[in-house]
Amino acid sequence: MTTTLLRGRLLSFRRAPLSLADSESYFYETDGGLLIEDGIIAAAGTYADIKAKAPEGVNEVDHRPHLILPGLIDMHLHFPQMQVIASYAANLLEWLNTYTFPEECRFVESDHAERIATHFYDELIRHGTTTAAAYCSVHKTSADAYFAEAVRRNMRMVGGKVMMDRNAPQGLLDTPQMGYDETRQVIADWHGKGRNHVAITPRFAITSTPKQMEATAALAREFPDLHIQTHLSENHDEIKFTCELYPEATDYTDIYARYGLLGPKSLFGHAIHLSDREADAMSESGAIAVHCPTSNLFLGSGLFPLKALARRDKPVRIGVATDIGGGSSYSMLRTMDEAYKIQQLLGERLNPLDSYYYMTLGNAEALSLADRIGTLESGTDADLVVLNAAATPAMALKMDVVKTLSEELFLLQTMGDDRAVAETYVAGVAMKAKLSEPAA
Ligand code: GUN
Ligand code: ZN
Repeated sequence: MTTTLLRGRLLSFRRAPLSLADSESYFYETDGGLLIEDGIIAAAGTYADIKAKAPEGVNEVDHRPHLILPGLIDMHLHFPQMQVIASYAANLLEWLNTYTFPEECRFVESDHAERIATHFYDELIRHGTTTAAAYCSVHKTSADAYFAEAVRRNMRMVGGKVMMDRNAPQGLLDTPQMGYDETRQVIADWHGKGRNHVAITPRFAITSTPKQMEATAALAREFPDLHIQTHLSENHDEIKFTCELYPEATDYTDIYARYGLLGPKSLFGHAIHLSDREADAMSESGAIAVHCPTSNLFLGSGLFPLKALARRDKPVRIGVATDIGGGSSYSMLRTMDEAYKIQQLLGERLNPLDSYYYMTLGNAEALSLADRIGTLESGTDADLVVLNAAATPAMALKMDVVKTLSEELFLLQTMGDDRAVAETYVAGVAMKAKLSEPAA
């Protein structure tokens, strides 16, 4: 058995915080010990207590004065868009047609998909993200590369081969039958292999014909435990075009509802401009609205009403994500900094406890995976991030005057990025120190 004892300040949420004063919502241990046995958290508590329980001669790693949290979770990003980041476009549809679709065509080549997969997981680890839900391209080769690399690194990952059969270049189209057959093959090859979860992934209603949506509906019926991921209500031109393509539907959300795609494992990227009716439908089904703040600002898509959706009589479940490459940073810290600013512009407050809840337990709950990830509970996977709030000279200077945990968390969110990630553990194994330096 491999046993490791980590020492540092431990922080883990028990539930969503009600306010910045809600100290019951989290567990915080200033001199903490975390015992890991064969990739699983065996115990967490004061260092003295845990050390007393640990076997003689246990391998100890001292992370003081840093914070040890559950690994960060990214609920929505695009594996084939690493080289799309920073593409100059006026809006979503122009960005997709000009840069994104041509780039995704390259993933038909397995060599290319495998090379990008290596970079993809390197970036997740560099930024402290231990679980993510990603879209691959339409090509099965891309899903194979994505899941094979996850197995190699023993990471818990959600992902899916995109289904799309219209309104895109020929090299990026499947057919209803191909999309169905290849998704089934990806499920057979990868679901449950290592720590992988395959998601049914129709890109969005614009790129799927009604026939393909029927095939998606069939998959959702056959595999009711799988996640479903797609895009919803991101941009006004997108919404208008979508509703023209499905004139029988009441609104954008109703299109997905008609194909049985609304449920507690349905992850809807963006969902910025929902009507009350749509928010009710999301709430009643338990579907998740996945907020992608850097992307929404970068593409000018709109200001996601996170607080307003969360406090409705019928609240909408919410996740947070980078949306690489519409999003502009792999960092969940940068992501929550932009989420904070969006709420500021809407006259709302997103407090630092909210942010760290969303990045960890909140996203784990939104993925229905809180029994495995998102906390420091015994028996769950030892996927962890170690954060250093004094990682840069400017951060260290500000840390001189920081007095409370929430001030420190806010500093990390406001000024932090991959430099603030001192280490990333995947199933108990330190992964960040092993990454090769980026080429000069
Ligand atoms: N809608 C459909 N596809 C995409 C995509 O790749 N990125 C974003 N941001 N929105 C989409
Ligand atoms: Zn997306």
